Amino acid sequence: MEHYSNYSLKQHNTFGLDARAKDFWIFDNPDELGGWLHNNQSGDQVLVIGGGSNLLFTKDYEGTILSPAFKGIEITAENGDDVWVRFAAGEEWDYCVEWAVERGLGGIENLSYIPGHAGAAPVQNIGAYGVEVADVLAFVEGFMLGDGTFFRKTREECDFDYRYSIFKGPLKNKVVVTGVVLRLSKNLKFLLDYGTVKDRVRSLGEPSLGNIRKAVVDIRKEKLPEPKVLGNAGSFFKNPVVTISFYQQLQEKWPDIPGYRLEAGKKVKVPAGWLIEKTGWKGREYGNAGVHKNQALVLINRGGATGSEIANLARAIQDDVLTTFNIELQPEVNFL
Ligand code: EPU
Repeated sequence: MEHYSNYSLKQHNTFGLDARAKDFWIFDNPDELGGWLHNNQSGDQVLVIGGGSNLLFTKDYEGTILSPAFKGIEITAENGDDVWVRFAAGEEWDYCVEWAVERGLGGIENLSYIPGHAGAAPVQNIGAYGVEVADVLAFVEGFMLGDGTFFRKTREECDFDYRYSIFKGPLKNKVVVTGVVLRLSKNLKFLLDYGTVKDRVRSLGEPSLGNIRKAVVDIRKEKLPEPKVLGNAGSFFKNPVVTISFYQQLQEKWPDIPGYRLEAGKKVKVPAGWLIEKTGWKGREYGNAGVHKNQALVLINRGGATGSEIANLARAIQDDVLTTFNIELQPEVNFL
């Protein structure tokens, strides 16, 4: 366990913002959490961070940040083709995907190259190319900051939804996720429905875990900027979900508006990137911030941007999308 005061968060958020934390604790082992809680008399607000790939620090953080750096990947059970694997919270998510693909275990290959740590994956239910982590999640393991107990929650108990879980809702900042147990499979079922993935895989050869991983990595590298080169947090906004009747009204005015019917009900998911592009923001600069030239849903730090500059840009985009389409974009990124 390590403690730092007035600690720079630059290496701990993928926007590369130079905010500071009043107190910053790094834990190497879940067993250290109980002792820390017992001795913590500060009464400060607490924030748990993973890889910082979904955070926007608009100012210094005047509280305590906990950074779980637990490592380890282990198979915990096997039954027929099913293999349960525990990934410790501090493992890089993409290393977990590589680990599974190399061992012929299917389920998370479509989630390749997503920045962040394994512990954060269930918090916002990361998703890409037709798969969400909730689809393969068996358990989330963690520590309650209220009473210092350890817990294990099943998928049902996590209340997963599109970029949502109980850890973003009622349990926000109340727990430290210590690890995730995923149910992977040796019986491979490839999910290639997301148009571009199918074409890419075909150009690489037969569908396989390795080819899907390569296709997804290639697509992401083309569309999404590398955080170490150009600070960003992936999609800045969620894709809005609208009613079919509202979508039909939009189609009358914009016949080429894309939309994906949701199975759950009479709703349509509209790509926020398209809405933002139509309002003319794609590739535009805004002081030291800006909108990425290849993906309008990605806001970038062009170098030296402040968090509030990025927040102002986000607000300007939200205003324009509201005025043009009467749709309120909701951030996917957490503002602090
Ligand atoms: N589009 C545009 N202009 C743009 C960007 C997108 O018109 O500048 C339209 C196009 O019609 C395109 C469609 O939006 O076909 C979808 O674009 P893309 O495949 O890039 O996906 P997305 O909806 O923008 C979502 C996730 C991504 C995930 C991809 C692939 C959200 C908020 N984002 O983006 O997740 O990688 O699908 O599945 O749901 C993230 O959450 O940080 C993230 C990167």
